[in-house]
Amino acid sequence: MNFPLTRRDFIKDTIAAGAAATALHASSGLALADERGVIIQGRKVKVAVIGCGDVSGSYFPTLAASPNIELVSTCDIIPGRAENAAKKFGAAAHFPHIEKLLAGPAFDLLVNLTDIQQHYALTRQALNASRNVWSEKPLGTTYAQAKELVELAAAKGVELLGSPTVVGSPQFAFMAQTIRDGKLGRVAAAHASYGHTGPSWSSFFYEKDGGSLYDLGVYSITTLTGLLGPAKAVVAMTGIVTPTRTIHSKGEIKVAAEDNAMLIMDHGDGVLSHVQSGFNYYMAKEHSDTDPTHHTMSILGTKGAMHLAGYDWGAHGVDLATRETGGRLQRMAVGAEGYQWQGGAVAMAKFLATGERPRFTAAHAAHVAEIIAAAHQSQASGARIALASTFPPVKLS
Ligand SMILES: NC(=O)c1ccc[n+]([C@@H]2O[C@H](COP(=O)([O-])OP(=O)(O)OC[C@H]3O[C@@H](n4cnc5c(N)ncnc54)[C@H](O)[C@@H]3O)[C@@H](O)[C@H]2O)c1
Repeated sequence: MNFPLTRRDFIKDTIAAGAAATALHASSGLALADERGVIIQGRKVKVAVIGCGDVSGSYFPTLAASPNIELVSTCDIIPGRAENAAKKFGAAAHFPHIEKLLAGPAFDLLVNLTDIQQHYALTRQALNASRNVWSEKPLGTTYAQAKELVELAAAKGVELLGSPTVVGSPQFAFMAQTIRDGKLGRVAAAHASYGHTGPSWSSFFYEKDGGSLYDLGVYSITTLTGLLGPAKAVVAMTGIVTPTRTIHSKGEIKVAAEDNAMLIMDHGDGVLSHVQSGFNYYMAKEHSDTDPTHHTMSILGTKGAMHLAGYDWGAHGVDLATRETGGRLQRMAVGAEGYQWQGGAVAMAKFLATGERPRFTAAHAAHVAEIIAAAHQSQASGARIALASTFPPVKLS
């Protein structure tokens, strides 16, 4: 499943990138669904949400505010959560199980906001019922799962997209364009770090197939592969620093998944990047902080370097220094320009209604799922793990 795509091909300009994407598209079992135009015409996209927990509190208001969306139904195995969300955001129906949701009022798009370990089975069930699906990250917890879902969506003629949305930010676009324009010279290395002290509201983050890479590192891996190209191989080490945790409503649990991870990706042509994530990181600045000096990612080349201020899912700007401009850091790409990390399902509904495809793709999400699964394999075996998947360059316009 490897494409004949070098890293240099990858960072060519947008037009070439688009052409390459089309060519790759045709040759790949992991292709995006066909470049169809408008899928749902003359009416709003009917949306159902499954998983009405913590993150749904950020999703529902953006879904409710979208002119392209009619919220039809909600679902949660904790029925009170589905009921409350339905009442608050005007959905006519709510259900305690996906079977009942699929058999209920018709909808076009399922927004899957359940536990990491539940994504694959629920998304698969919805795709089999010919529904379009937006999935929180990851698509699945093995590459085989993610690949199966991408192929199933294509076979069913529906669309599948998933979080993170980071390549949609203006800061990502600025960094990608800066690299493509050669302003950093020969790009050699990158580093990203994302962590906090860990969620306390649900145990799945610490259970088998959970962990900091699926919850947090996934953002950095998506950004870095988006900027530097698909990874060809991964080495990683992971560990458990805090063996027990206290979870609301459950009390003390034993931690089974990594809460401390470091991986190195080989992007080809000698280019390497490093990602660290963890649930034991003191943060001088909280998530909501907008301190413009908090760098979480650095990209280094022979003629320049750039540092992302803030996290990639909600960055404040990019600090760029190049030999050409005298080596001083300059703040670029300030502001969100309408980008929201929780806006992926809204962007997907807009795509279904208008044909305007977002920058994020299922093939990229599947590649990221393979990288994280490979990191776990590397930790277990001590080996460098070669990767099979790739994805077309991110289109910037
Ligand atoms: N919480 C955040 O700030 C945040 C931010 C970005 C992404 N995410 C991602 O969102 C997802 C959910 O995280 P969360 O923090 O909202 O967790 P959560 O535990 O608060 O919510 C998950 C909800 O899914 C429900 N659920 C689980 N299995 C189900 C099933 N089979 N059918 C129906 N409902 C089911 C649970 O009852 C729960 O209400 C995860 O993938 C997480 O990585 C979370």
